[in-house]
Amino acid sequence: MKGLTILLVDDEPLMRLSMVDAMEAVGYEVRAASTGTEGIQLLRQNPFDLVITDLRLPGADGLAVLKATKEAAPETEVVVITAHGSMETAVGAMRLGAFDYITKPFQMDELLLIVERVGRVVRLRRETEESKEIHDDNFRFGGILGANSRMREVLDKVRTAAGSDVPVLILGESGTGKELVANAIHQNSPRNHHPLIKVSCGALSEALLDAELFGHEKGAFAGASRQRRGRFELAHRGTLFLDEISELPAGIQDKVLRLLQERKFWRLGGRESIEVDVRLVGATRVDLAQAVEKGRFHEDLYRRLNTVQVTLPPLRQRTDDIMIIADHLLHDYSSRMNKRLKGFSPSARDLLSRYSFPGNVRELEKIIERGVTTGRDHEMVHPADLCEFPSCPFTGGGPQESCGFCHEGLAAESKSKGVSLTSLSAAREEFEKSHILSVLERVEGNRTAAAKVLGLSRKALGDKCKRYGIPSVTEDAGEEGE
Ligand SMILES: Nc1ncnc2c1ncn2[C@@H]1O[C@H](COP(=O)(O)OP(=O)(O)OP(=O)(O)O)[C@@H](O)[C@H]1O
Ligand SMILES: [Mg+2]
Repeated sequence: MKGLTILLVDDEPLMRLSMVDAMEAVGYEVRAASTGTEGIQLLRQNPFDLVITDLRLPGADGLAVLKATKEAAPETEVVVITAHGSMETAVGAMRLGAFDYITKPFQMDELLLIVERVGRVVRLRRETEESKEIHDDNFRFGGILGANSRMREVLDKVRTAAGSDVPVLILGESGTGKELVANAIHQNSPRNHHPLIKVSCGALSEALLDAELFGHEKGAFAGASRQRRGRFELAHRGTLFLDEISELPAGIQDKVLRLLQERKFWRLGGRESIEVDVRLVGATRVDLAQAVEKGRFHEDLYRRLNTVQVTLPPLRQRTDDIMIIADHLLHDYSSRMNKRLKGFSPSARDLLSRYSFPGNVRELEKIIERGVTTGRDHEMVHPADLCEFPSCPFTGGGPQESCGFCHEGLAAESKSKGVSLTSLSAAREEFEKSHILSVLERVEGNRTAAAKVLGLSRKALGDKCKRYGIPSVTEDAGEEGE
């Protein structure tokens, strides 16, 4: 391992010099001391991966150096040099925690082999520490992985929310981890000994959802042959997770709001109110603030829910987390399937980190699961293992089918070769965008002029610009309104 830092303690100048030379030639960083006392001083002041010390030294001897090392830095490995025939001291050194010993006289190659072995151990330890760090609380909470700066903010917020008892609104595209966050909040909250009840608001008709949430008395409606408790009641003292909360019909929004305000409700057909103590967590993929503006969602309910807002960024905006999650999933699936996969090939890593993941972490999960299940290599996952279709051009089959993942990978590949392997409509859009941009440039950003040139209405051009993310930075004074 290059960059290994070594302290060498030996009182014989010639020996010392030739050892330093040999080790530096391989790329190790070496410092040398000629007495045990000097060595001990150096190792107390500097971190070393390895200390190599002669056992017989004037003053503080090699065993003292070994003990001092293990005291100052238990992780630092020690290799001792013994004189021929002093086996006992060597064994004593091993008992004190030396990594190995080498007997004089020795060839430099022998020494380098031992150092190389230490290098491997140190590297392995560092890798384990790194992955431990990722799995440390700083980067994960309730199974949510993320080292990306925005995700760390999210994790902080989730941690705080878990400790409090206020309603939480979770926003994010499909597959970004909204339900995972809801679980984490409940599991780490003071309510975790009570139930977490989940309701998907988009799946049921208004009447069914009403009965589902609030329950009903026997005979409340045709078919209500017995009394039934609703989800709010079941979640008493626990948490109610309303998924796809934007889909709540207006009438039920009112009822939920009232329940939150009064902490009680009525079953359908019930005469007496029932008190409940429920913490509400809602999640949605849509822009709920906009839904409020458009009158589609009750403003007061929104305000109550929005006490704490957790917004999960799409995976393509936290690309530094892709491989962290991917590596974690690979090890997870691999051990679950009794495989011993070590990682992704460099090209597979490259493709994964460049892919846009419209389905976010859920899509990443599927891709990795496929890679682990279908991969034939025992050590690594390769690009072809990640593809959904056996006949995808990516895997060397025909060009009939390709999954989104391969499609992007291929497009990136062919782009670098000068051809864009995209659909006609994608190519048309690409051309349209670049043409609009060049016309806008020629007319110095004047959209009215550009619209005339392009044969579009001012509004149509505005829409296209919005779609292609062309900013209207040049809305100058000469422009008229929409
Ligand atoms: N940061 C993350 N670390 C690890 N796993 C994650 C992370 N985010 C999401 N996942 C996993 O991805 C999958 C999808 O997450 P989840 O079901 O919470 O998404 P969602 O936002 O609720 O999606 P939808 O809107 O489609 O319901 C789950 O298996 C979840 O465990
Ligand atoms: Mg969900």
